[in-house]
Amino acid sequence: MIEATGLTKRYGATLAVDDLSFTVPPGQVTGFLGPNGAGKSTTMRMILGLDAPTAGSVTVNGRPYAEYRRPLHEVGALLDARAVHGGRSAYDHLLCLALSNGIGRARVDHVLAQVGLHTVAGKRSGGFSLGMAQRLGIAAALLGDPRVLMFDEPVNGLDPEGVLWIRSLVKSLAAEGRTVFLSSHLMSEMAITADRLVIIGNGTPDQGDHRRGLPRERLGQLRAGSLAARRRAHDSARGAGRRGGPTARRHPQHHRLQL
Ligand SMILES: Nc1ncnc2c1ncn2[C@@H]1O[C@H](COP(=O)(O)OP(=O)(O)OP(=O)(O)O)[C@@H](O)[C@H]1O
Ligand SMILES: [Mg+2]
Repeated sequence: MIEATGLTKRYGATLAVDDLSFTVPPGQVTGFLGPNGAGKSTTMRMILGLDAPTAGSVTVNGRPYAEYRRPLHEVGALLDARAVHGGRSAYDHLLCLALSNGIGRARVDHVLAQVGLHTVAGKRSGGFSLGMAQRLGIAAALLGDPRVLMFDEPVNGLDPEGVLWIRSLVKSLAAEGRTVFLSSHLMSEMAITADRLVIIGNGTPDQGDHRRGLPRERLGQLRAGSLAARRRAHDSARGAGRRGGPTARRHPQHHRLQL
């Protein structure tokens, strides 16, 4: 379970995240939907303690992430697939992470097989395609067998097979009772993958959705590829854009979600 309360991040004059409150419960895939620059990555960095909130707080399974002594056992995250030492092989990259977190070598082999990289485990990760790098990042997230998983735009740059793989992976992780939080700017992708949504457009999901004319009940309908629900949400977002509520004024690009 991830719980954010009044989460706010300001970079100078830029209000990246504005009073965001939400929960991400276990056993479901929660999509984090918002256009480019909405504050998705910033929120995820704050969840991981990589950025300090200007105001508000966030906990993972009841405690701030930074308080965990062995965090990889609690939360696995993929934020930036290219943030690896390119000179290291996939196996060595994972082994370094494992050894520094008290995780045995057997898990390295296990996650490499799980993400389909076992045949290239000895190759330099710097030579990996984006899709392979995403898989390596996901392997690192799974290494500690954590209860909470967080993926920032995991389908970006993937081919159709990779997209299908991610969809089925996140669903199976949620079916195991894990908390799964993944971001995207693609409403179509979220409609297929997510059981529930947190929508960000420089506002909080509960308050922000109402401000933009996307009531919570309607968000609840955005499930499992329902084209009709996608259209209704799209129409609502466009209507809100025309009405120009407070969120729309502060963040005019919020209704440019790709459908
Ligand atoms: N380190 C930083 N310093 C200054 N501004 C930042 C920093 N990180 C993010 N921002 C700004 O905060 C806002 C939110 O950025 P963020 O990367 O969180 O959005 P995002 O929803 O992840 O976008 P995208 O879909 O493009 O990945 C943007 O206006 C961005 O320019
Ligand atoms: Mg981002």
